Amino acid sequence: MIVQHLLPRELFKGNTVFVTGGGSGINLGVASNFAALGANVGICGRTQDKLDRAAVGLRGLNAHAGGKVLPVAADVRDPAALDAALARTQSELGPVDVLVAGAAGNFLCPAEELSPNGFKTVIDIDLLGSFHASRAAFTQLRERRGCIVFISAPQAYVPQAYQLHVGAAKAGVDMLMRNLAVEWGRYGIRANSIIPGPILGTEGLKRLSSPEVDERARQVVPMRQYGSVHDIGQAAVFLASPLASYITGTVLLVDGGSSLVGSALWNQTVETLPRGKR
Ligand code: HXC
Ligand code: NAP
Repeated sequence: MIVQHLLPRELFKGNTVFVTGGGSGINLGVASNFAALGANVGICGRTQDKLDRAAVGLRGLNAHAGGKVLPVAADVRDPAALDAALARTQSELGPVDVLVAGAAGNFLCPAEELSPNGFKTVIDIDLLGSFHASRAAFTQLRERRGCIVFISAPQAYVPQAYQLHVGAAKAGVDMLMRNLAVEWGRYGIRANSIIPGPILGTEGLKRLSSPEVDERARQVVPMRQYGSVHDIGQAAVFLASPLASYITGTVLLVDGGSSLVGSALWNQTVETLPRGKR
């Protein structure tokens, strides 16, 4: 459920939000929350069809504010493709006020089986992709005194079995975020990260869990429930809003307290997951 009625429905009218990986899951939930508050929304990913389908839903959400939606295919590992996507966004939607860097890749793999290219692939998508997006959006963000919201992951702080590549990549993303907060604060650009907990109905959870593991894990999450994509969307809207005007360089956990109980259950149960998920 999008709770836009708690905020002015035109809070982001005339603003442009660009979301990498915005065609599905958490990132689409984030894009939806901005659209519901009137923003123009650009989304990128590798699959144009998927983006086009997501755009239909987004157009239904920001129509009340005359908002526009641009689905543009770009692989975040390709800086030139992101430069082109951001240039097109500027010309069709206006300069970017908010960049959400959410594109990511993940799979379960024991460290001793992880190939150099497997490790590199996740670093390339998550960490280099976040850098490329930030660089490509910089001049527009500077013009608008805008902000960046990085979608990180708990693995950045709590080591989890078979997630060495993701832990390294997301820890890098959060340090990138802090460095940008230090360097770009003088331009009025804020940078923050969100760490989602386990989020229902997402590809990430599907790849890392199973119904049996979910059942046990829910019992140890302090709030006794998984989150929704809208929980993350609401947090992103908050961080991009005037309510957060002096917040930069911070990591916001949106996880029902999951991080407080560590990864021990995860590390025990990962062995029970079907081999195909590794
Ligand atoms: C071991 C694997 C593997 C697996 C791929 N590789 N899958 N190694 N186990 N299951 C290795 C390959 O063998 C290859 O190395 C290298 O990784 C690149 O694989 P490609 O298939 O060529 O890569 P590519 O087509 O670029 O696809 C990227 C991907 C893929 C990450 C591998 O899964 C993808 O596109 N994912 C996007 C969607 C996604 O992952 N969503 C979940 C995000 S959730 P070699 O050596 O053979 O060449 C998330 C954290 C969530 O990020 C936290 C939840 C709690
Ligand atoms: P998802 O739906 O698979 O989201 C990842 C998106 O990134 C997809 O739309 C994918 O689209 C895109 N993407 C992947 N590789 C890309 C590339 N090289 N270039 C451009 N786009 C690319 O999975 P999700 O679970 O919602 O994850 C979204 C974010 O939340 C990720 O940053 C993830 O690390 C984070 N997260 C998720 C959870 C969770 O519980 N699910 C928990 C913590 C953190 P294409 O494949 O079409 O390119």
